[in-house]
Amino acid sequence: MADGFSLNDALSGSGHPPNQGWPGPWGNQPAGPGGYPGAAYPGAYPGHAPAGAYPGQAPPGAYPGPGAHGAYPGQPGGPGAYPSPGQPSGAGAYPGASPYSASAGPLPVPYDLPLPGGVMPRMLITILGTVKPNANRLALDFKRGNDVAFHFNPRFNENNRRVIVCNTKVDNNWGREERQTTFPFEIGKPFKIQVLVEPDHFKVAVNDAHLLQYNHRMKNLKEINKLGISGDIHLTSASHAMI
Ligand code: GAL
Repeated sequence: MADGFSLNDALSGSGHPPNQGWPGPWGNQPAGPGGYPGAAYPGAYPGHAPAGAYPGQAPPGAYPGPGAHGAYPGQPGGPGAYPSPGQPSGAGAYPGASPYSASAGPLPVPYDLPLPGGVMPRMLITILGTVKPNANRLALDFKRGNDVAFHFNPRFNENNRRVIVCNTKVDNNWGREERQTTFPFEIGKPFKIQVLVEPDHFKVAVNDAHLLQYNHRMKNLKEINKLGISGDIHLTSASHAMI
């Protein structure tokens, strides 16, 4: 897939097999240079990160929060900073997470996260939650009105298989599905989903491991101004930030 102005080169090399890149603390990749979150996105956007955001080093194993402008002003680990590990967060499962205060949980599900001005390259959306026992599905829907630009739909039991279905809905019609059998979600367990908007695609990482990318089918990114979060989860926080 096209990957022009991409973080992948910095994170996982070219070609985009499942589970490469976005190395994280759970043993999928060494957190060396280019790793995440040990060294989140170093060099990916040299000179463009907000001051203090995504510095080259972070405590290994920490879950860096997005640089939430205006979140927790005055607190250690405030805007753009890496909070120190162990800092209290919503569910305690993601110490160091620093969600927008406006969206810190627990949150009702379904939940709509406004994306004022739409999405744009370098926008990072972070969702923290826990899969419910007996979960069947969850979904993220990046919406433009009633249309869905990007539907990200993990299914825990489709004919006894676990699969992630991605698609776009225009005028109430679903398009061609893109399916992914790498399935990082677990019943009853906490998760982190990160969606990074890139010029040609949405890029999704779960629990700090790159999962998939989805080419933009709806090209007018500015009109994609809402994220619907639904399904069989407890939602801890939902936030967005620019990196
Ligand atoms: C349908 C399902 C929708 C959506 C769609 C994606 O079968 O009812 O919720 O997941 O597939 O293609």
